[in-house]
Amino acid sequence: MLSYLGKVIGLKNKIKKYRNMHYHRIGKIPHKRHIQFRKEDGTLYQEELFSTAGFSDVSSILYHCNPPTQIKQIDKPYSVKPEVMEDEQLKHRSLQGFQITPEDDYLKSRKAVLVNNDCKIVLAAPRKSMTDYFFNNSAMDEMIFVHRGKGVLKTMYGNLSFGYGDYLIIPRGTVYQLHFEDTDNRLLIVESNAPITTPRRYRNDYGQFLEHSPFCERDIRKPEALETHDEQGEFLIYIKKADKIYPYHYLNHPFDVVGWDGFLYPYAFSIHNFEPITGRVHLPPPIHQTFASAGFVICSFVPRLYDYHPDSIPAPYNHSNVDSDEVLYYVDGDFMSRNHVEAGMLSVHPAGIPHGPHMGAIERSIGQKETKELAVMIDTFAPLFMTKEAYGIENKDYYKSWLS
Ligand SMILES: [Fe+2]
Repeated sequence: MLSYLGKVIGLKNKIKKYRNMHYHRIGKIPHKRHIQFRKEDGTLYQEELFSTAGFSDVSSILYHCNPPTQIKQIDKPYSVKPEVMEDEQLKHRSLQGFQITPEDDYLKSRKAVLVNNDCKIVLAAPRKSMTDYFFNNSAMDEMIFVHRGKGVLKTMYGNLSFGYGDYLIIPRGTVYQLHFEDTDNRLLIVESNAPITTPRRYRNDYGQFLEHSPFCERDIRKPEALETHDEQGEFLIYIKKADKIYPYHYLNHPFDVVGWDGFLYPYAFSIHNFEPITGRVHLPPPIHQTFASAGFVICSFVPRLYDYHPDSIPAPYNHSNVDSDEVLYYVDGDFMSRNHVEAGMLSVHPAGIPHGPHMGAIERSIGQKETKELAVMIDTFAPLFMTKEAYGIENKDYYKSWLS
């Protein structure tokens, strides 16, 4: 019994650690929850509590024009399970991310390249906006990093405009559409079994960002411009659960919300608003941490001044990060520690063997005052496996790249 209670308390603490957002409200809501809230014609709005962790963690209450439950038809589900190549996991890899083939359709464009039981790292180059369907990743939180492209993330919570360098955090269960302004779009997506949130150490017990946090509430963009579509007909939502997509046809438009309030909603944060922490000698990757989850962290490497000890070496040291696989996604600028790096490339340095700067990079870094590099790092706590898609865009001899 004691160990059972211990497990429950441990789980609750874990959840508390990972979920912590800020209150937001938008549109029309009644003065109390769970009371009558009527339209001008006298009929009731349809209240929906959107809750997490068995009613024990953050939630929001949404008011729909029509019930969100009216299903007209479900088409045959289809698999989107990544084809995983489970051999040769212990090897440094480099992937040419921009060689992923663009696709007109957003869902078809999502190509998982590195996966484990906690997360999927996905590359996508969608050419067209989602106009004739909606998407709901019902079991995994999503982080979408916008490398190229501009547009609007439309959700039942309202709209969020996005552009180059934005992280979009989309909690599981959020029905959304991505609308792009152009056809040249490049996205780095992480799907996560556990919630994605900001690092706990940067928040006080009430969720407020602390003074030493590299960003604060003013940098977090919440949904605005609530568009209420009081429409009935047939609305197709592709719902993803456990590597399958279920095509659901609903009677009511999913964005028929007149108002909502709560702590659970999608938001945007620009990598360009991450304020780097610097020191006299080289500081390790946790100072770049931007998001946390149970199975990985996400870090932002942004333009910054280099270490200022008179004998400092700005390039990182060789290191064995024995409990993490390190994935670095190169966004822009010059990557001081690596040779032959282009935007859109990913390097994968697995736990178990050391990695470090390329030849000449250490000497080259000495005396330099600043870097313009921009990169996103994903460090996972369980080994990542390459997918068939990843093998197709691999620089095969990368593991020898430290020789010259
Ligand atoms: Fe590293």
